[in-house]
Amino acid sequence: MPDIIDGNKISEEIHAELAAHLANISGRKPCVALVRVGDDPASISYVAKKSKVAAKIGIESRLNILPESTTQEQLDSLIDNLNADETVDAILVQAPLPKHLNEQATFNRVSAAKDVDGFSFANLGKLCQEDKSAFVACTPAGIIELIKRSGVETRGKRAVVVGRSLIVGKPLALLLMQKGIDATVSVCHSRSENLKQICKEADILIAAVGRPNTITADMVKDGACVIDVGINRIPCAEKKSGYKLVGDVDFESVAPKCSKITPVPGGVGPMTVAMLMANTVKSFFARSQK
Ligand code: GUN
Repeated sequence: MPDIIDGNKISEEIHAELAAHLANISGRKPCVALVRVGDDPASISYVAKKSKVAAKIGIESRLNILPESTTQEQLDSLIDNLNADETVDAILVQAPLPKHLNEQATFNRVSAAKDVDGFSFANLGKLCQEDKSAFVACTPAGIIELIKRSGVETRGKRAVVVGRSLIVGKPLALLLMQKGIDATVSVCHSRSENLKQICKEADILIAAVGRPNTITADMVKDGACVIDVGINRIPCAEKKSGYKLVGDVDFESVAPKCSKITPVPGGVGPMTVAMLMANTVKSFFARSQK
């Protein structure tokens, strides 16, 4: 059986490193403003989790919860206020936003210096330029951290990313090809021909599609490292909540073929939160040196 990469354990290590880094600061703590619009159940739970982890590390979080009916002007005005607030180091607008709001315009409105999600054009441009001051999107940054801390060899290896989203696929492809990571990267998506053959060439296969059972055993090379980014809620009568979380990978059939694999839950998910905290701390120190 493969090594199961323990995202909970690795994220706890990062929390402890960040808490130690903050132990000697005097004055105000780092502060992240969390913005949630509407009542999407997944967003409620993610924002609550981010707030809880922040408190544990010694980061202040300020919750800004707006109704579903919020207009673009109202959301813009909140972001402008948070941009101008000197006591706020980091701003995160939880996606997805309600359909009537413009997600990309909202992400671009966040000041680049506080854009800990790394979704603004300024930070995506910096990432492209391999500028170390960039804020890198939390899920891709978390995946790279998982890969590094699990001792997965990337140099010269074939990495296949399935999914081309702004939140995961695109920035992850850029990170994997960066100097020092040095993977040979392919990006596949819903229109890709020969998906199975391309996936089968991967030493590192990353599924970020948002659809259960997209990756099956016949698509995976023996000994590959498989990273499952999917967090899909499917109905489950046995669970008190009425649903269970599954990834994009058919874990049961794929796991026996892998050298390493991430579980869902407990793989990539906690790393996203850990990297939000790391980016908030990075912003705090960068801003305090200005
Ligand atoms: N929704 C799913 N993942 C993310 C993320 O990393 N950041 C934000 N803001 N929203 C998300």
